[in-house]
Amino acid sequence: MEYLFSPRSVAVIGASTNPAKVGYNIVANLRAAAYPGVIYPINPKSDEVQGIRAYPSVTAVEGNIDLALVSIPAHLTLKAVEECGKKGVKHLVVITSGFSEVGNIEEEQKIVEVARSYGMRILGPNVFGIYSASKSMDATFGPGGILPGNVAIVTQSGALGIAMIGKTAVESLGLSALVSVGNKSDIDEADLLEYLVEDPLTHVIMLYMEGVKNGARLVETLKRVTRRKHVVVIKSGRSKRGAMAAASHTGSLAGADGVFDDVMRQCGVLRAESVQEAFNWVRFLASAPLPDGEASVIVTNGGGIGVLATDASEKYGVELYNDQQVLKKTFSEVMPDFGSSKNPVDLTGQASADDYAKSLAAVLEQPDMHSAIALYCETGMFDTDQFAKILRDSHASFSKSKPIVFSLFGGGRVEAVIRELRREGIPIFGDVYEAVASLGALQQSWRHLSSSEEQIEAPDIDVPAVRRILSKAAAEDRGFLLAHEAAELADVLGLPMPQSSVARNLDEAVEMAQDIGYPVVMKVVSKDIVHKSDAGGVALDLVNDKELIDAYQAIVRSCRAYKPNAVIEGVEIAEMVRPGVETIVGARQDPSFGPTVMFGLGGIYVEVMKDVVFRAAPIGLQTAYEMIADVRSYPLLLGVRGEARKDIDTVATMITKLSHLISLCPEITDIEINPLAVYDHGDGAKAVDVRVLFTGSKEVE
Ligand code: ACO
Repeated sequence: MEYLFSPRSVAVIGASTNPAKVGYNIVANLRAAAYPGVIYPINPKSDEVQGIRAYPSVTAVEGNIDLALVSIPAHLTLKAVEECGKKGVKHLVVITSGFSEVGNIEEEQKIVEVARSYGMRILGPNVFGIYSASKSMDATFGPGGILPGNVAIVTQSGALGIAMIGKTAVESLGLSALVSVGNKSDIDEADLLEYLVEDPLTHVIMLYMEGVKNGARLVETLKRVTRRKHVVVIKSGRSKRGAMAAASHTGSLAGADGVFDDVMRQCGVLRAESVQEAFNWVRFLASAPLPDGEASVIVTNGGGIGVLATDASEKYGVELYNDQQVLKKTFSEVMPDFGSSKNPVDLTGQASADDYAKSLAAVLEQPDMHSAIALYCETGMFDTDQFAKILRDSHASFSKSKPIVFSLFGGGRVEAVIRELRREGIPIFGDVYEAVASLGALQQSWRHLSSSEEQIEAPDIDVPAVRRILSKAAAEDRGFLLAHEAAELADVLGLPMPQSSVARNLDEAVEMAQDIGYPVVMKVVSKDIVHKSDAGGVALDLVNDKELIDAYQAIVRSCRAYKPNAVIEGVEIAEMVRPGVETIVGARQDPSFGPTVMFGLGGIYVEVMKDVVFRAAPIGLQTAYEMIADVRSYPLLLGVRGEARKDIDTVATMITKLSHLISLCPEITDIEINPLAVYDHGDGAKAVDVRVLFTGSKEVE
């Protein structure tokens, strides 16, 4: 990767003397950014491009080429790549469009194969180039003028990425790198993250994503990277329509948004709603030190803006320092009689610049106050120009030890101060919500960093026994387990199931019900009927022999009417489960992230309430407890209105078991326990219904 970000020499294949061409612009940007390495324009028709000697092909170049940028039409690209291989080029950036994104998958694969055969790596195709501050290299066809700094941007959308060049410049946001991944034929986000985490210039990484390919590797990489650097992600396709647009735009399927959101949080990644929000966060994260704790102090010269900041703090998870005695003592000296030392510390509109500076200094000195939110409303009492100096000085004194965010509200002079300080790299905002949200992002990242890294202990799962159960079903060409097979699998996993057995006729059914003890449940057993309730194949709460006999006859009749050719193998007689808190535990092979596990409020309302959370599997108990606490209905498990706390420990154990099963057995595509009835603490839980889907017989065998 070093050769991609810091090449000693760059060839531009398709370098042109025509300013309307992409190849012209790349050479112009390399020169304008004062790239210190050697530039080799490649063009069969010109001897010189922009005053630099040009070559008819890379093989005609005498010196070594670390990086070649390809900017010639798609049908000419393969040949050029082959020549690069022969020349010993190390990295390729293929700008050219017209490959897998428009269905031309074969040509793209050929390019990858040729590149691999020569040991070359490829960024793209379908990218805008690459910017790297470590080598003053603007090898893009963007508008130029990128400010060097400490934010690395990796984007899946080329157009958005190239537009970010101008936007970041206007916003005075300095970049360490700007890369688009395009079709990800070889290099993907995970590869780039591996490099950027080691890059000393990069303090924070911003990702723009549309779809996830090879999500399991991305998860593994992000988990490591976020332990060292902040990562902010914007993923489009949040809405159903957006997801469809993203899928058609990039040719890769956008993953379900809920899964993406939860998995990113699991990895310690901060998810921003919009590009603007991401810019705000990275601006602050790139320069702010990590706090020592969560307690923040709002210092303001305006009451209203202070209240807004308090609301924003609640919204973005920023805790406010609350020891009233200490607050009073700390700020009494600078506080006018009619001011308030409660947090927000309101110095009032009468505050002088000096009072303001002293207040911020007091926050810095107080060890239990971990960060500051400095707010300012323009007044006539305050010399705004003098204010710029106070902010600059405060930022400098805070910069080593405590985070500080600024929000200034006022007219033209205030706006000028904001622009001036931003240019100096000071995180300063016009809107109070933007300022507090940025501090909230830092706090979230800090919480993740302060939490211990989970050591995942694998539970003892008898995988061969699981596979034997699947094989039996596969032999009958079934991709799902019947109820008694699912019960067998639950037994292997040690999941508590209601007592049950399969009766082949009415006499056996009566005998079994008496053995189990009334009340019982009866369910049809037929490989031809998957949705038993829809077929009238389920009868609940049967309290005696008579009800059981009636139910048996009714079930057989309904199922015959529902599917006349269905082979009915018998009925399952099961213990009637007593009511508990109905939860759902599931695991599946997610199209983006691979094995994932889910927990939530279960029962028949699961689809309506959608109170579920996901994690990439496998997970340990620590993450399982976090999942349980993450659902909105968590209070039901803690016990409401004097109820006892429920058996959360059993639920956590079951979540971890399913997460390991789905990881160990990739042939299982879905396993779901719904409902899992959870009882009072110590009384366990019962898996009322277990459904298992798996892929065809070949994989199982
Ligand atoms: N080696 C070197 N140079 C060559 C070769 C070769 N084998 N063959 C042709 N050339 C020269 C051409 O003569 C031409 O130079 P000239 O202007 O001096 O005549 C130059 O290379 C370019 O070739 P053209 O045929 O003129 O191609 P053009 O520049 O019009 O288009 C491009 C090439 C830009 C790669 C185009 O095919 C393409 O894919 N455009 C889309 C790029 C894109 O958008 N990428 C995604 C970025 S992200 C986003 O969405 C913004």
